[in-house]
Amino acid sequence: MSKLKAAVFASGAGSNFQAIIEKRDLACEIALLICDKQNAGVIEIAKKHQIPTFIFSAKEFASKQAFEEKIVSELRKIEVSWIFLAGYMRIVGSTLLQAFPGKIVNIHPSFLPNFPGKDAIEQAYQAGVNTTGVTVHYIDEGIDTGPIIAQESVAIYSEDTEETLKKRIQEVEHELYPNVINQLLQQSEG
Ligand code: GRF
Repeated sequence: MSKLKAAVFASGAGSNFQAIIEKRDLACEIALLICDKQNAGVIEIAKKHQIPTFIFSAKEFASKQAFEEKIVSELRKIEVSWIFLAGYMRIVGSTLLQAFPGKIVNIHPSFLPNFPGKDAIEQAYQAGVNTTGVTVHYIDEGIDTGPIIAQESVAIYSEDTEETLKKRIQEVEHELYPNVINQLLQQSEG
């Protein structure tokens, strides 16, 4: 039986994308990278691993609905059934949500519901709390509000800088996200 197909959406450096595609026993095929930034580091990683890319510029479309319709058609063409967001810096709109109900997952660098939104690592660091974490959750219409699938906490030490904290959070992300993806796929029927 051939593996289910998934797409990763990313806008940045792509360390989570890399961790996913390099997982040895990943239960799906990462069939497409969707990226909204022409110069994002993640594109190089996809090329190196010969993963097809769809790179778009939102300003070339009349609306979010228009570029999401184009994305949906790219995903349908190759029969993608799951979407994993990994540093995709856009709010997913109703076009994508309705096309892939219950099949869009995100990773967020905090222990939600604490520190949703942008710069979550910086927010936690500045708040002076002693733990933060990582959350994998389903996407809904809100910002980092969808049902939580898995979480892991990460301690913040007094000697931490924002950079050392980020490094430890990312190490947790790179382990957690591919494992959660495998669990989801093993539980799902398609
Ligand atoms: C990660 O910290 C992820 O949690 C957040 O965006 C960051 C992406 O980093 N959503 P990278 O591009 O995977 O290195």
